[in-house]
Amino acid sequence: MRHKRKFSSVGSGLGILGKFQFLGPGKLIAGNNVELLNVNIWTDKNAVITIGNNVELKNMSIFADKNAVVTIGNNVRISNNVQIIAQKQIVIKDEALIGKQTILQDSDFHGIDGKAPKIEPITIGFHVWLARQVLVLKGVTIGDYSIVGAGSVVVSHISDHVIVAGNPARQIGVTKDGYS
Ligand SMILES: CC(C)(COP(=O)(O)OP(=O)(O)OC[C@H]1O[C@@H](n2cnc3c(N)ncnc32)[C@H](O)[C@@H]1OP(=O)(O)O)[C@@H](O)C(=O)NCCC(=O)NCCS
Repeated sequence: MRHKRKFSSVGSGLGILGKFQFLGPGKLIAGNNVELLNVNIWTDKNAVITIGNNVELKNMSIFADKNAVVTIGNNVRISNNVQIIAQKQIVIKDEALIGKQTILQDSDFHGIDGKAPKIEPITIGFHVWLARQVLVLKGVTIGDYSIVGAGSVVVSHISDHVIVAGNPARQIGVTKDGYS
């Protein structure tokens, strides 16, 4: 398949539908059974994007700046118009489910009063569900089995096994096994 050469390494069962754009000098590493439908990836120097096994990415974009690391675990599903924008590090652990139009950005991109922009890593925990149109800002860790409601803005750490929603996201419930 002509797209395979865009990967530094890729396992078996790669499926690419629609357009696949990979730009820049960074590295793209993928496991087995990765399905990409209209995916755009931009990388800068020394950026590394790693995608695990059994991952489905649909109509979405990943931007990885110089030296940035984006890691997408196993059994992750990411839906339409999601943007992952990393200047440092964004880690999405296994079984995460990310709803339409959600944005993860680990940088403010602009500083305030002459200071440098704040850039802090983001971690999305195991079996987390981010519903539609969630915005996850710099430095946030979302705990395992947690859920973030539609339209939420997440600006601080979220514990394991909770449901949060709103702007800024606040706890509205708890979960045992997370989304199903
Ligand atoms: C996460 C979610 C499933 C939780 O639903 P739930 O547990 O039934 O929550 P409830 O409807 O009982 O709401 C509990 C409280 O949180 C508030 N709340 C619920 N969802 C909210 C949201 N997205 N934003 C702000 N507040 C929200 C409710 O107003 C309620 O507040 P109150 O206790 O003061 O009355 C739901 O909020 C959600 O986001 N649904 C959309 C899922 C989606 O986007 N699917 C698309 C595919 S990924």
